[in-house]
Amino acid sequence: SRTIRLASIPGDGIGPEVVAEALKVLRAVTDGSDVAFDVTEFSLGAARFTATGDILTESDLEAISSHDAILLGAVGGDPRDPALKGGIIERGLLLKLRFALDHYVNLRPTKVYPGVASPLSDPGAVDFVVVREGTEGPYVGNGGSLRTGTPHEIANEVSVNTAFGVERVVRYAFELAQKRPAHRLTLVHKTNVLVFAGSLWQRTVDAVAAEYPEVAVDYQHVDAATIHLVADPARFDVIVTDNLFGDILTDLAGAISGGIGLAASGNINPDGAFPSMFEPVHGSAPDIAGQQKADPTAAILSTALLLDHLGLPDEAARVTRAVEVDIEGRASAGSSDAGAANPAGRARTTTEIGDAIAAAASSL
Ligand code: NAD
Ligand code: IPM
Ligand code: MN
Repeated sequence: SRTIRLASIPGDGIGPEVVAEALKVLRAVTDGSDVAFDVTEFSLGAARFTATGDILTESDLEAISSHDAILLGAVGGDPRDPALKGGIIERGLLLKLRFALDHYVNLRPTKVYPGVASPLSDPGAVDFVVVREGTEGPYVGNGGSLRTGTPHEIANEVSVNTAFGVERVVRYAFELAQKRPAHRLTLVHKTNVLVFAGSLWQRTVDAVAAEYPEVAVDYQHVDAATIHLVADPARFDVIVTDNLFGDILTDLAGAISGGIGLAASGNINPDGAFPSMFEPVHGSAPDIAGQQKADPTAAILSTALLLDHLGLPDEAARVTRAVEVDIEGRASAGSSDAGAANPAGRARTTTEIGDAIAAAASSL
């Protein structure tokens, strides 16, 4: 038998609502098997910061690091609270974890499931993965402002791209493309303007491509990539891109897949030196928090990525299949609540969706 030590960070807003459902489904797929989850909950986020001034202490980080994996809901408190401005929780908690635990691969798969209510009338067979770099780019906090608050203010935000950092994520993307049936890889960047970083990314892809002759490689500027993602998303297989472009493209990808409430992600440390962290792509959604309006499917699908990462592909497949069954059911029930970012008129509550997927997972 195997016990998996899981750190759970429900976080803010809809985070706790969706994590409760994700844990329910994890239990449903492992009940009666020889795999058990030993869950430690960490109460981090805006409420804790407001009460104590702490966001993520060294001892929190040490305790979290000693787990096999992390499940995170979402972070980011009330947008009207001036003390939370500038993403203090997002940077101090979420980004700090990604950097400290060297989550250099931010894996964000997109599928349009049969029966889903995609805003695209005819999306085709959409099944691609964005491999977003997770520890570099403009996210490193390398910048500053001069003459702040004056008419002569200069605000710099530096994007850091290292040969080491780019090569390791590009290699991961090629390995993934090699394993997937379509064997295609698209580099997305903005090499016509961001010439230094763009050149490094392009040269790295070209060099690694020589080792993967079966993978067909192409390149798109990020602005054009948004056209193709909407006009013909089925053309994509593996997209490799930097931290900021990957952030933007994956919200778009979530929208075309039927709603951000369906988009799952893994922050992966492929070397296994640190625990990987799984979370929905979406945020704390303060506009719908506490109302049982969030679709927990993104968090649930994130547990499928978690199970896969932990070497439990059968359990992962059962979670995915249970979600497919649920989405097919939504379609036949004539409801269009499949993760739609506008949850008005959603037929079921967060808990009801979680219950249905957990029940489907148990019966598979
Ligand atoms: P958001 O993803 O929270 O919400 C965007 C829109 O999508 C909102 O209309 C929201 O209601 C809807 N939505 C999000 N998740 C949904 C779900 N599961 N089901 C149905 N609808 C859903 O993005 P935002 O409004 O830009 O950010 C809100 C806060 O979350 C900010 O503080 C932001 O910094 C933070 N954030 C955190 C994460 C994270 O923790 N990983 C990710 C993104 C944003
Ligand atoms: C995401 C989020 C985060 C990011 C924010 C909250 C720091 O938008 O996970 O996509 O930009 O990576
Ligand atoms: Mn984002």
